[in-house]
Amino acid sequence: MIETSGLTKTFRQGKKTVNAVRGIDLAIGEGELVALLGPNGAGKSTTLRMLTTLLTPTSGSARIAGFDVGKDRDRVRRSLGYVGQGNGAGHNQRVRDELVVQGRCYGMTRQRSRSRADELIEALELGELAARTVSTLSGGQRRRLDIALGLVHRPPLLFLDEPTTGMDPQSRANLWDHILRLRREMGTTIVLTTHYLDEADSMAERVIVVDRGTVIADDTASALKSELAGDLIVLNVSDAAALVPLLDGVAGIKDVTVAGSRLNIRVERAEVVLPELMRLGDAHGIRVLTADMTRPTLDDVFLGLTGRSLRESAAAGTSSLETAGELR
Ligand SMILES: Nc1ncnc2c1ncn2[C@@H]1O[C@H](COP(=O)(O)OP(=O)(O)OP(=O)(O)O)[C@@H](O)[C@H]1O
Ligand SMILES: [Mg+2]
Repeated sequence: MIETSGLTKTFRQGKKTVNAVRGIDLAIGEGELVALLGPNGAGKSTTLRMLTTLLTPTSGSARIAGFDVGKDRDRVRRSLGYVGQGNGAGHNQRVRDELVVQGRCYGMTRQRSRSRADELIEALELGELAARTVSTLSGGQRRRLDIALGLVHRPPLLFLDEPTTGMDPQSRANLWDHILRLRREMGTTIVLTTHYLDEADSMAERVIVVDRGTVIADDTASALKSELAGDLIVLNVSDAAALVPLLDGVAGIKDVTVAGSRLNIRVERAEVVLPELMRLGDAHGIRVLTADMTRPTLDDVFLGLTGRSLRESAAAGTSSLETAGELR
C-alpha cells in the first residue's frame, strides 16, 4: 500500500535549511495499522504530507497503492484519506453539509454524496450534531468530523495526523473504537501519528519510531520493548557489593547499576530472572529486602535508542500546525 525509498525533504528558509526528512524507507502492507512515533519536529507530518502529495519530496520516491506520488497525483489522492494535524472543516457550514460538499469535491453526484454523508454520520455517531454549525463543535467532536471527511470517498488508505491530541480519555477511547472498527469492517490501511505512547503501545500493531528525519526503529511495540529496553528489576539488598559479582553467572541480564543498597537490573524477562536472583541471594546469605519489577514503556525504548526521553521532548516543543483540507 505504501512504499518509499530514500524519501527526503529539505526546507529552505532564507539562508537556513531544515533537513526535515533525511531518507525514509517504508513498506506498509494492505490492512496494517501503523503508528508513527517521535518527538516534535521529527518529521512525521512532513512525511505524511509527502505521501499525500501535499508536499513534493526533495529526493527519493514514494508509491501509494502502486501509484507514484509525483507522477500520478490524482490517483494517489483518490486512494487515500488524510486528516491533518490542524482542523480541516470550515467554520460556518453545518456538519452534514460539510460532508456533502466533500463528496461533491470527489466528483460524486449530489444524491451519492448525501447518502454517503448519512452513512458517515451514523458510523461516527455524528447524528445529534449533523445540523450544528462546525464552529460550535467541541475539539473531540470536530476530530470525529475530520475523520468522517477523510473517509467520504471510501479510501483504502487513511492517514491521521495526531487524531486524538487534546481529547479527553473518554473521547479518545471512542475514537479508537471507530478507528478499529473501520479497519475490521473495511480493511482500511491506517497510518497515524501520536504523542500518546500508551496509545501506540496498545492499539497499533506496528510502531515506527522517527527521530530527526529518519526511522530509528520499526517493529511491534512488544518486540521493541523487549529487544531495546527489557524489564527492570529493582532490588534492595543487605549487601549490594557482595551480590554484584555473582550476577555475572545469571543468564538474561543486560545491564546493572548500583546505588547504595539498591540494584537496578535490566533483564530480558523479569519473571525468569527474579526467582533466580532470590535463590542466589539465599545461597550467599544476602537478604533481599524489597523487589520490584516493571515492564518497559515505549519511552524507555526511545531513551535506549537516543539517550533522550520522548515524553520530555514531546512536552517541550510546540506542535507545528498545518491546515488540513488542503486536499480539497
Ligand atoms: N513549511 C516548512 N518550512 C520550514 N520548515 C518546516 C516546514 N514544515 C516543517 N518544517 C520543519 O521540519 C521539521 C519537521 O517538522 P514536522 O512537522 O514534520 O515534525 P513532526 O514530527 O510532525 O512534529 P510534531 O510532533 O510537532 O507535529 C521541523 O523542524 C519543522 O520546523
Ligand atoms: Mg506533526
